[in-house]
Amino acid sequence: MGLRNRWVIGNWKMNGSLAGNAALLGAVAAAPSSVGKLGVCVPFPFLGQAQSALAGGAAVWGGQDVSEHASGAYTGQVSAAMLVEFGASLVLVGHSERRQYNAETSDLVARKASAALNAGVTPVICVGETLAEREDGHAEAVVGQQLSACREVLLRAQGAAILAYEPVWAIGTGKTATPAEAQAMHAFIRATLRVLGAEAEATSILYGGSVKAGNARELFSQADIDGGLIGGASLVAADFLAIAAAL
Ligand code: PGA
Repeated sequence: MGLRNRWVIGNWKMNGSLAGNAALLGAVAAAPSSVGKLGVCVPFPFLGQAQSALAGGAAVWGGQDVSEHASGAYTGQVSAAMLVEFGASLVLVGHSERRQYNAETSDLVARKASAALNAGVTPVICVGETLAEREDGHAEAVVGQQLSACREVLLRAQGAAILAYEPVWAIGTGKTATPAEAQAMHAFIRATLRVLGAEAEATSILYGGSVKAGNARELFSQADIDGGLIGGASLVAADFLAIAAAL
């Protein structure tokens, strides 16, 4: 405790428009300085808009995916260096929606995290089990495997990578892990980082999955929960800032 940064990071997913984003980014830019750090991960076309709105302030911005490659014939992909050109300092990797809809494997997620680190962008590595995996008693095995695949990059990051535990059954469903369930998995993640030889005490581990203003404070007060990755509620300025205030 005390060693780690505390974060609230918004994941806009495939939402937003130039006109609609302006007020949201304006509110984020004007957020009172809280105890933690504030970030927003926006769709690629809005990176320039996020940069214009947030540059010089306390909040940071980033993308929701990154190529494992540095450059070349990879139609549709975006490199970490391109994110840097737009001032991005964060990027989500391995979000469950990408694992599910884009068939991303844990090994690919590790290579993407590595590409981000190489460019000086902080990867937010997302892990989490499905409902079936939890009900079968495999939640820790699944998350442990997702972490092991990232061992090399976690060692190299020396605490500079962020982890996000997002149980798939809690994402966008309104079903939140209880603070005790979330804490138990966060403690397991930190113990696994220790076993892997990574900087367990210095690594921020965020919880994601239906975090709202009403449940954020209790989740964030757990010993191994260092903040949140926020989907739906990050699209409404008042909700997002209320969650940040709960850090
Ligand atoms: P949610 O999404 O807050 O809408 O559940 C979280 C996420 O997918 O990062």
